[in-house]
Amino acid sequence: MASIARSFEELYGRKPEVFAEAPGRVNLIGEHIDYSEGFVLPFAIADRAYAAIAARPDGLVRIASHQRKEKIFSIDISDVKPGSKGDWEKYVLGVLWSLGITTGVDILVDGSVPSGAGLSSSAALECSVAVGLNALFSLEMSKQDLARATQKAENDYVGMPCGIMDQSVSLMGQAGSALLLDCRDLTTESIPFDVASAGLELLIIDTQAHHALVDGGYAERRAACESVASKLGIPSMRHLTLKVLEAHREKLTATEFIRARHAVTEIARVLEAVTALRASDFATLGQLINASHASLRDDYAVSCPELDVAVDASLAAGAMGSRMVGGGFGGSAIALIKASDVQKTKDAVLAAFEAKGYKKPRFFTSLPSAGASASLIN
Ligand code: GLA
Repeated sequence: MASIARSFEELYGRKPEVFAEAPGRVNLIGEHIDYSEGFVLPFAIADRAYAAIAARPDGLVRIASHQRKEKIFSIDISDVKPGSKGDWEKYVLGVLWSLGITTGVDILVDGSVPSGAGLSSSAALECSVAVGLNALFSLEMSKQDLARATQKAENDYVGMPCGIMDQSVSLMGQAGSALLLDCRDLTTESIPFDVASAGLELLIIDTQAHHALVDGGYAERRAACESVASKLGIPSMRHLTLKVLEAHREKLTATEFIRARHAVTEIARVLEAVTALRASDFATLGQLINASHASLRDDYAVSCPELDVAVDASLAAGAMGSRMVGGGFGGSAIALIKASDVQKTKDAVLAAFEAKGYKKPRFFTSLPSAGASASLIN
């Protein structure tokens, strides 16, 4: 914080009025079902985005990042609307827009969430700015309101039709627990996730792969679920059972059928995972994680060769469960392993990637960490 405060002063010639921070996330289970009103079970990671902000008396908005301080982006607040200029700055502008901010601000951001790794660095950035503005302008918005506003920023300003999971967990995550989130009404429950006392570790494997399908493929999956819901006359996949899906199979295309099958079975797996976690039954949790990956790979078709190799190599090295996380087509996988097997698992994945000629993967571990926070500076 001290270094971002110093940079802010050097850059803008004044002190920041608020500091805010928000974490990235991994998802234990419940993938591609947030936009189907499902349940998800993510947790906030230790890596986070930071924002230092001060209000301005005029309408100027200035945005810079700690990494590239020399490049200050400027725009008038009245021009902050979808279609505006900006590159990564759009994540910040989108939040100003969706929160209805009408005065100028100076903003400096920093962060440690690896970008492109599928760990929601963009949601972390959006949420750090959102909680900062919420405190600075006394907007008194709840975490749920902020989750909806930051999702709107990403959907309508950045143009990515994401669901509500990443922003919700970045805002509402709790140290030591996974967050059971009902994506229909954003109610939450903290589910203690104490792998360490069970002698386990959750290894995060960043495949460093980014396939071109990321945006189009995501929108297509979402559209398939919406098409199934409309053909079956239900609001979302949340309202579907396997029995009803089977009974109406002939109304759907073969692709729609398997996409819906993923959604229905994944929602059920999340609830089973919660039961397993409550009983500290990590063996069952591992099996559910494996079943989730198979469903994402085969029915939802959002995995990719690098993710499958990471998962298969981890399992061959003895992981209890392994699967891709996030939107897919690249990014990260997780592996639930014995704490004593960390090096063995890393070596197995490294060897498998090398044999395939893939880029070297990166490894992270993180315990469930606290969600976003902001503090005003006197
Ligand atoms: C991305 C989106 C989320 C969610 C996941 C898949 O991370 O931002 O809303 O849909 O993919 O579970």
